[in-house]
Amino acid sequence: MFRLVLLSCLISGIYSLVINPRADQLEWTALGDSYASGVGSTDYVDGRRCLRYNEAYPVQLNNDSELSAGDHIFNNVPCSGALAAEIAEWQLLDEKKDTGPSWQYGPRPAFGNPSFATLTAGGDDIDFPGIIFNCIIDVSLWFGGPTRRTCEDQRAHSWELLKSDDLVNNLDSLIQKIVEKGRNGPIGDKFKLYATGYPKFFSTETTECDNVTFARSANPVDDGKDHPRMTLQVRQDFNNMSDALNEAIRSAVGRNSDKGVTFIDIEKDNFGDDALKGHRYCEPGVKEPDTENPELYMWHYPYKEASDDAQTDPTVALLSGAYSQVVGQLNAQDILIKWPNTVDMQNAMYDAIDETKLQEKATSTTAGWDSIGFRARVFHPQVVYHRFIRDRIFAQYRQDNPPAPCTSEECCPSGCTCGSSGVPLCS
Ligand SMILES: *[C@@H]1O[C@H](CO)[C@@H](O)[C@H](O)[C@H]1NC(C)=O
Ligand SMILES: *[C@@H]1O[C@H](CO)[C@@H](O)[C@H](O)[C@H]1NC(C)=O
Ligand SMILES: *[C@@H]1O[C@H](CO)[C@@H](O)[C@H](O)[C@H]1NC(C)=O
Repeated sequence: MFRLVLLSCLISGIYSLVINPRADQLEWTALGDSYASGVGSTDYVDGRRCLRYNEAYPVQLNNDSELSAGDHIFNNVPCSGALAAEIAEWQLLDEKKDTGPSWQYGPRPAFGNPSFATLTAGGDDIDFPGIIFNCIIDVSLWFGGPTRRTCEDQRAHSWELLKSDDLVNNLDSLIQKIVEKGRNGPIGDKFKLYATGYPKFFSTETTECDNVTFARSANPVDDGKDHPRMTLQVRQDFNNMSDALNEAIRSAVGRNSDKGVTFIDIEKDNFGDDALKGHRYCEPGVKEPDTENPELYMWHYPYKEASDDAQTDPTVALLSGAYSQVVGQLNAQDILIKWPNTVDMQNAMYDAIDETKLQEKATSTTAGWDSIGFRARVFHPQVVYHRFIRDRIFAQYRQDNPPAPCTSEECCPSGCTCGSSGVPLCS
């Protein structure tokens, strides 16, 4: 309740700054990749391949303000898989679009006229999907997923991307574009951007996990084949990648810190302590992969629940039917000749899918986009972690927008009294 009151005051503080489009209307915009779209966190909302889910941190942040402020505009634009350059290209639109650049990307809400925006970006720029496919679940997508590599080659590849100047430059360029657009909006140079980091995924306290593999085909029953193991050294390497990625995001933010851009560390709580301690993969005493571990903040692949065959999963049947129709019996070399660019092959395949069947808002995890998100959520935040991310952004937002003075009666419909530290409390 205390938070609601505070927020309603914050919002009224913002109201007074808003010039356009309406003096009493807050507008804000969420941007980013699958961490911001919230893939897998409860119910699929919309966005087709963008995989927007209704417990993602932006939706949670918005629900909070909705409760107290009522009428306002929220542009929920994130898209799963988006690189920084793609966010710049497809998430800063002046008009809402339902079509292109390919079937899989619609609908794409407009950027709008926000007073502030949130952003999670950079993971796809270091080929996070490649890491998931080659080092974690160790599978290929038959319709052209990430390039297949050994996990060792994948790590080398991702490190190359991490060490390239392009990473910080691309993030910086994206941030500049967002700021420029934001400053054209209702509150001009008071526009704020909150750019989050990413978590370190693994506990590195023990060697208990050294023989564990998260490979799809080795769980829950081991197929006896050779798969990447989560050795201490590999786990440390992944954690170092997360640190390096956060460092790159921090640098890009740092270049724009005089323009209202703030880095939100989603590993630290408001007291600066490690918020994920005890909540990562391979924690001491946990027999991985433990899909039921209630302490875990990220999702595991649903090894036991996902049947990846066309007989039992209608979505897999749809996808594999479309694949047969488009690719047929072509071998790998013919596929490359016909579609030198893998994305074109994916688009051809998605074009062949009966959209109504995939777009159906399924409540089950075996149909529609839910079925895809149910699998793609691996190594993404669970609901509890999205809540934490929301709180971290909210804490910074509160710092940037201090509560209206205690005397402001409009904070509370039925009047307010002055709490400690000048914060109004509703009567
Ligand atoms: C947020 O609000 C939407 C729309 O009312 C609702 O579907 C969703 O469950 C809510 N999510 C949270 C986290 O409260
Ligand atoms: C891993 O497996 C090897 C060989 O099977 C065995 O010698 C070793 O003790 C195992 N290590 C752990 C930490 O379980
Ligand atoms: C991770 O980084 C730490 C600190 O820089 C370093 O000591 C360690 O060797 C690195 N681990 C791996 C596996 O590269």
